[in-house]
Amino acid sequence: MTGATRKRPGMPQAGTAICTVDYIENPGARGFVFGQGKERFDMFLVRTGHQVRAYVNECPHAFTPLDTWPDRFLTQDETRIICSTHAALFRIEDGYCTSGPCAGKSLIPLAIEIRDGTIYMA
Ligand code: FES
Repeated sequence: MTGATRKRPGMPQAGTAICTVDYIENPGARGFVFGQGKERFDMFLVRTGHQVRAYVNECPHAFTPLDTWPDRFLTQDETRIICSTHAALFRIEDGYCTSGPCAGKSLIPLAIEIRDGTIYMA
């Protein structure tokens, strides 16, 4: 299991299957949306090798989704997470913002687990 956060509206229940690990490029990232309206919940997964991390898709600067273009969460060299709005950069491993207008803040991590090649909310 990785990450942990408080329950948010629309957040899938623990045990909800998100996707298979192979659905995400390596390295790569994918965004997912659950619910709609006030119950809408946006998240994304980042894969590097056998590691997969999950974050709420919300930049700590302006609280907008990071991906202006669907599933474009990583820098061109695929070593950092980038917010496309004002180019804040975040470490993949813990979501910490290393540069940009929200430097020093972090993405909100989500608890996930991988069983038999499938990623689940934990
Ligand atoms: S909204 Fe992400 S850097 Fe401004």
